[in-house]
Amino acid sequence: MGSKKYFSEVANKWDVMRQGFFSEEVRERAYSIAEVKKGQLAADIGAGTGFVTEGLLQKALKVIAVDWSDEMLHQMKQKFKDFEGVDYRQGEAENLPIDNNTVDYVMANMYLHHVDEPLTAIKEMVRILKSGGKIVITDLDEHNYEFLKLEHHDRWMGFKREDVEQWFLKAGLKNVIIDCAGGNCCTTSNCGCDKASISIFVAYGEK
Ligand SMILES: C[S@@+](CC[C@H](N)C(=O)[O-])C[C@H]1O[C@@H](n2cnc3c(N)ncnc32)[C@H](O)[C@@H]1O
Repeated sequence: MGSKKYFSEVANKWDVMRQGFFSEEVRERAYSIAEVKKGQLAADIGAGTGFVTEGLLQKALKVIAVDWSDEMLHQMKQKFKDFEGVDYRQGEAENLPIDNNTVDYVMANMYLHHVDEPLTAIKEMVRILKSGGKIVITDLDEHNYEFLKLEHHDRWMGFKREDVEQWFLKAGLKNVIIDCAGGNCCTTSNCGCDKASISIFVAYGEK
């Protein structure tokens, strides 16, 4: 099974799975490092069922939520049906369905370790940012839990923070900060014999 099929199959239970993996602390760190302001427009890339989008709506931002899985977007639409301010778009990492220089913020939580080419995906996220806009990626530090590739279709076993910093600089970002996001991502393998606890980084930059 490919990664896209995997996410479509788990879409209706993603919220429960997500609560087991990581907490709200990670998205709060993303909002605070970007100093998000109400009324502004953010893109949530690899939005899933809207973990990052939800907090942005609570802070009265407008959101373009992008995911390649229609099933994930469907779950999110059901969840936020009483909210205005979300624009749901199906799209892929290499070709985001958003015009150049459109959004004030780009946020992507636990998305980068699923894409084929992280630098290409980062450049594409920078493309849609307005000049002066801010990007925040929260993701896994480098780890050696092989079962995540098999059971959760992870493409990358986390990242070295120095690699992420170099990619941000190559993508033309300024004032780059790479730091701890706080909290770990935790899960146990299907056999119960391997237990992952992986630290989470926050990567910030300005266009
Ligand atoms: C681990 S989930 C994280 C979802 C959400 N950001 C969260 O924090 O709960 C990764 C999401 O990225 C999406 N995704 C993975 N690879 C993608 C790609 N190449 N293009 C677009 N979406 C992708 C998946 O469908 C899934 O919803």
